[in-house]
Order: sequence, then C-alpha cells, then structure tokens
Amino acid sequence: MSLLELARWDTVAIVLSGLSLLVGRIFIARKNVTWHRFFMITATVLAALFLVLYVVRTALFGSTSFPYGGPIRTVYFAILITHMVAATAVAPLALITLYRAHRGDFQRHKKIARITFPTWLYTAATGWLVYYFLHQYHP
Ligand code: HEM
Repeated sequence: MSLLELARWDTVAIVLSGLSLLVGRIFIARKNVTWHRFFMITATVLAALFLVLYVVRTALFGSTSFPYGGPIRTVYFAILITHMVAATAVAPLALITLYRAHRGDFQRHKKIARITFPTWLYTAATGWLVYYFLHQYHP
C-alpha cells in the first residue's frame, strides 16, 4: 500500500471517529444511553485504528514535510501543532471517560466528558485538515 493510500485510510478512520462521536453526543442529549454507549465505543475503536495506521505509516515512510512557504506554512504549522497537542491529550481523556462510564460513575463521567468531547472533535477535524494540506493542497 502506498503512502497516499495509507494516509487516506488513516484520515477516513479519524473522520468517522469524529462523526461517531457527534452521533453519540446527540443520543445522550436525547437520554438514549444504549446508543450513546454504542457510538462512543465505535468512536474509540476507530480512533485506535487511526493510531495503529498512523504508527505503521510513520514507521514505513517517516513523516511527510510541507513543501510550501509563505503565510500558508504558518497556518499549516499552527494546525499541525494544535492537532498534535489535542491528539496527545485525547488518549488519556478518552480512557478516563470510558473507565468512569464502565464503573457507573456517571456524575464524574459527565464532568470529564465535557473536556474529552471538544478535544476529540478538534483532533478529528484538524486531522483531516493536516491530511488535506499534505496530500491534496496544490496552490
Ligand atoms: C469515550 C467515550 C465517551 C464519551 C466521549 C462520552 C461523552 C459524553 C458526554 C459529552 C455526555 C454528556 C455530558 C453533559 O451532559 O454535559 C455523556 C453523558 C453520559 N454518558 Fe458518555 N461518553 C462516552 C462513553 C460512554 C459509555 C461507554 C457509557 C456507557 C453506558 C456512557 C454513558 C453515559 C451516561 C449514562 C451519560 C449521562 C450522564 C447524566 O446525564 O447523568 N458514556 N457522555
């Protein structure tokens, strides 16, 4: 599989994870715990798949450098750096959020979920943007 194909599947996984997260959020707003649980676990599995593909891709091909200069380079790095910070934070946040739900500690689950949810969505959205800038952007 080529670098571009791996990057594409990786982006599909992180975008689907973000969409699943949104659907799960809508279900809990409607007090539907069964489907909230289902979509949040699906979002977690897709995020884990993203991580595996990302590690494989980096091991096989190394990282891709952004070829353009000027203001767009600053925009790209601002997105990349905030994406990396959010992606690193979201892993422990997601595990704690799941663990609290698993223990039935829904009060504290709710408290941390308010941080986990936007951090995760930001990671998914900027993950797609980084893919776009590296592989689709040709000014
Ligand atoms: C990492 C995965 C998860 C995330 C990001 C997440 C996120 C959220 C969010 C954003 C809320 C609403 C908080 C609010 O009202 O402000 C919530 C509530 C809730 N979640 Fe999750 N959730 C996850 C996994 C789960 C799982 C696996 C369960 C299992 C049953 C679950 C059960 C609940 C329940 C029962 C509530 C309602 C709590 C209440 O209103 O007292 N969640 N979750």
